[in-house]
Amino acid sequence: MNIKLSLLCLVYFFKVSNGARLLGIFAMPGNSHYILAERLMKGYAAAGHHVTMISPYPTKNVPKNASWEDIVLDGLDDAYREKLKEVNLYEDSTRSNWNKIVSYQELMMHWVNTTLYHPKVRALLTPENKFDVVIMEQFLNDAHKYFAHYFQCHLIVLSSMGPVVWVNNIAGNPVPPSYVESFLSGGTFSANKFWDRFVNFFDYIIGNLVEYFYLKPLHNDLIQKAFPGAPSVEELNERIALILLSSHTSLLEAVPLVPNMVEIGGYFIDPPKKLPKDIQQFLDNAPEGVIYFSMGSNVNSKDMPMEKRQMLFDVFSKIKQKVLWKFEDENATGIPDNVLIKSWMPQQDVLAHPNVKLFITHGGFLSTTETIYHGVPVLAIPVFGDQFINANKAVRYGYGLMLSYHDNQNFNEDTLTRLLQELLTNPIYQENAKRRSRIFHDRPIKPMANAVYWLEHILRHDGAEHLKVVGRKLSFYEYLMLDVVGVILVGIMLILFVGKRICNKMFVHVKPLKQHKFKSG
Ligand SMILES: *[C@@H]1O[C@H](CO)[C@@H](O)[C@H](O)[C@H]1NC(C)=O
Ligand SMILES: *[C@@H]1O[C@H](CO)[C@@H](O)[C@H](O)[C@H]1NC(C)=O
Ligand SMILES: *[C@@H]1O[C@H](CO)[C@@H](O)[C@H](O)[C@H]1NC(C)=O
Repeated sequence: MNIKLSLLCLVYFFKVSNGARLLGIFAMPGNSHYILAERLMKGYAAAGHHVTMISPYPTKNVPKNASWEDIVLDGLDDAYREKLKEVNLYEDSTRSNWNKIVSYQELMMHWVNTTLYHPKVRALLTPENKFDVVIMEQFLNDAHKYFAHYFQCHLIVLSSMGPVVWVNNIAGNPVPPSYVESFLSGGTFSANKFWDRFVNFFDYIIGNLVEYFYLKPLHNDLIQKAFPGAPSVEELNERIALILLSSHTSLLEAVPLVPNMVEIGGYFIDPPKKLPKDIQQFLDNAPEGVIYFSMGSNVNSKDMPMEKRQMLFDVFSKIKQKVLWKFEDENATGIPDNVLIKSWMPQQDVLAHPNVKLFITHGGFLSTTETIYHGVPVLAIPVFGDQFINANKAVRYGYGLMLSYHDNQNFNEDTLTRLLQELLTNPIYQENAKRRSRIFHDRPIKPMANAVYWLEHILRHDGAEHLKVVGRKLSFYEYLMLDVVGVILVGIMLILFVGKRICNKMFVHVKPLKQHKFKSG
């Protein structure tokens, strides 16, 4: 007994001494961002590292053998839900880009700032606490990089949307606007159209100006107020050893990635689990197939205006397929017989069922990743943020079609019926979805294992300076070679000027003759 106990202690000690101490700072409320954070940190815990997780939610189902500590930022989620009530996400896309950036930033500002002052977070800031790596999402929250400075450790950032402007800049990743689509373009960019490149060029500039003149000063102020004398965001960025991208070339276009940007898209997807009994039966007994319908976790199906909801019911009641709908009000009335509504769905497990023939989705990045994982075609109804990009990609890659929520000419019974007919009878959508899925799964290493490998790589090599490109530290005119181009232009002008003077001198006698000629001619 005693020997057993001491053996156990020894094993525990061995593990503690081996694993790295990771501090995850994922203060952003909202389901989709939290899922990405929680899965990443759980993956690291399973690999034997010690996780301290700062987030708005207590972590569920932490494995018994994991070394895990939760620091729950109470109150953040409530405040977020309140704010969310004020904005109607269904109408979000009708606003201007600038308006959106400012309002997203204001929404984020609350939780970014609250975290900096939260008593539980402040209590962590003592010399006894040591961490090897701080891990955080990179999304309008630069101020949180301060913690990596406090603990004098490396920083890993996670981008939930792949290689977007705010991670490209910190890595010095090349993004030629001639063919790398800007985040602002909405997913319809085509490199061989002049006008698209023209607009993309300005989107590229605007994205950078917003970063430089709006977001950076804002976060520098936040940090300085909370921790006077702290380094600037630029200096803190130098602690970033690794940028994890929750994307993959099966989901987005192929683009350049510098060596410390690593794709781990799909790491949050688990192998299929057993479904709840009623859903299992519903899916099993569907010889004509099932349409799965969900608007995600931020937008509620139940908040759709009554006439739109009724239109959907009318269309569904006339098709031979069954419909499984994530609908948050299970007491809703007037549901057709072939429709089953549930306020919550085990989405990954539903998509894994072979009878699911189509996914009607808002086109969020998690849902898009999951549908590609399982090779299910989509009908996308995007309403805000990057959902339009994902929806347009689904159309471009031929594994889906899009229904415009805001256009009443489009969002009606005729169009929906026609789109469903096409998607359910033309096999091309299914084939393309399966093709994407095969690309998704064809990797040398599973995405979470890849995330673990690169974490341990930067630990073994003290921040892995060798992975970073020098370009990240150049000023914009050096990076774009504007100084060199300037010198060349001045040189050419000088040569032309001197050349002209010499010519003038050499042909000084010819000159009057010429003038004479002109006059007479
Ligand atoms: C905990 O147990 C699971 C299942 O046995 C195993 O896969 C995982 O690696 C273990 N984690 C640690 C930190 O030992
Ligand atoms: C951040 O929070 C602190 C402390 O509550 C407050 O003094 C400060 O004004 C806040 N800053 C912003 C920009 O909201
Ligand atoms: C549905 O009705 C039941 C019983 O009337 C009630 O307990 C439940 O809270 C209702 N659910 C919702 C989501 O309104």
